[in-house]
Amino acid sequence: MAVGPTYTEYTRSASGRKLIASPKIKTVKTIILSLALAASALADDAAVLRKSQGLFKPVPASAPALKSNPSNPSKVELGKLLFFDPRLSSSWLISCNTCHNLALGGVDLMETAIGHGWQKGPRNSPTVLNAVFNMAQFWDGRAKDLKEQAMGPVQAAVEMNSTPDRSVRTLKSIPEYVARFRKSFPQENDAVTFENMALAIESFEATLVTPNARFDQYLMGKTAALDASEKHGLDLFIGKGCANCHAGVNLGGTAYFPFGVVEKPGADILPAGDHGRFTVTKAAKDEYSFKSPSLRNIELTAPYFHSGKVWGLREAVAVMGSSQLGAKLSDADSDAIVAFLKTLTGTQPKVDYPILPVHTKDTPLPDVRVSPAARH
Ligand code: HEC
Ligand code: HEC
Repeated sequence: MAVGPTYTEYTRSASGRKLIASPKIKTVKTIILSLALAASALADDAAVLRKSQGLFKPVPASAPALKSNPSNPSKVELGKLLFFDPRLSSSWLISCNTCHNLALGGVDLMETAIGHGWQKGPRNSPTVLNAVFNMAQFWDGRAKDLKEQAMGPVQAAVEMNSTPDRSVRTLKSIPEYVARFRKSFPQENDAVTFENMALAIESFEATLVTPNARFDQYLMGKTAALDASEKHGLDLFIGKGCANCHAGVNLGGTAYFPFGVVEKPGADILPAGDHGRFTVTKAAKDEYSFKSPSLRNIELTAPYFHSGKVWGLREAVAVMGSSQLGAKLSDADSDAIVAFLKTLTGTQPKVDYPILPVHTKDTPLPDVRVSPAARH
């Protein structure tokens, strides 16, 4: 801050004794006051940074190691092919990337997912970006990790509508896949299995991290990476209690909470039929509980909530204020929180679109029938 030139300008009284401040003394007071304010703002800034560093962690620059699934480059590459391969669906139309589009922040931009035969699934597709940091997968945490998760959609009738047997027959019928599975799982005699398919996909998904968000630069000490309103939003995010449920690397993905801790949102946003984690545990406390979702890249992944009923981030923040905190956030507070949430967008993974290996006469042909009886 520039200090004014006048702070020594005093005039003597007639007696020559008393110092009388010239009108400019006001400037002096203003300067002292604003210096004090700036100093306290700096102290506040430092306190917010310290609190943030205690609550959140930056996204690491590369894939984290997976204990039960050691990575190797050929496994990651195989997982990438599988992620994009629609022949893992019975229709040959739907791949993981259909609903977790890596050109769209890892989502499909649908309220709830649309899969085989145009069937609508019951829940919104969460992003695969940074999913590796979630303590468990799915809105209700029913898969303990990405490997277990990857076996679900291939078989789900409303998603890819295939079976483990059909998937393995498909992969075994394609020589390049057989060679790639052998290279990725060199210890195994029969490398082409449904489980190894899931392990390869998991290896690839672990690389889908989005480091270097402005918020991460801030966490690493570059405080100028956030402007004043974003810092204010961060302060509110912590102070109002959002960070109680949205903390850690992902600002979420660490625990389950009832949707509507204080006040249940309307049935449009929280459909009565989806009991959330209760369906997994049958414990009364888990009724209408869901995993607090990651808020990383949140500006890219509308619509929001497991129901996908809310398209605006500002509205989603307001719903959280009333349902989870019992607080009506002012418009200014919501705006600041939204400004902060937009600093969570990181560098998107650069994924070259893969050319998939050719199928052969032994590959099971596309089957677009919708009746469950047709699933083989
Ligand atoms: C038809 C759309 C669709 C397809 C295809 C699909 N998914 Fe999903 N995915 C979803 C939906 C919907 C959910 C949430 C379901 C739930 O929570 O019950 C989900 C959840 C996930 C999650 C959990 C993320 C989290 O934060 O909990 C991961 C990871 C994932 N899918 C990966 C995959 C992979 C890998 C494939 C391919 C093998 C795949 N998905 C295929 C729609 C789809
Ligand atoms: C008591 C725990 C809790 C608190 C406090 C909380 N949230 Fe949430 N948040 C959740 C849960 C659980 C969900 C998932 C709800 C659902 O869809 O079932 C969620 C969902 C969200 C979503 C939608 C994410 C998506 O991908 O669909 C946003 C945005 C969000 N919260 C922001 C906030 C903000 C901002 C605050 C503070 C004003 C806050 N939350 C406070 C638990 C909490």
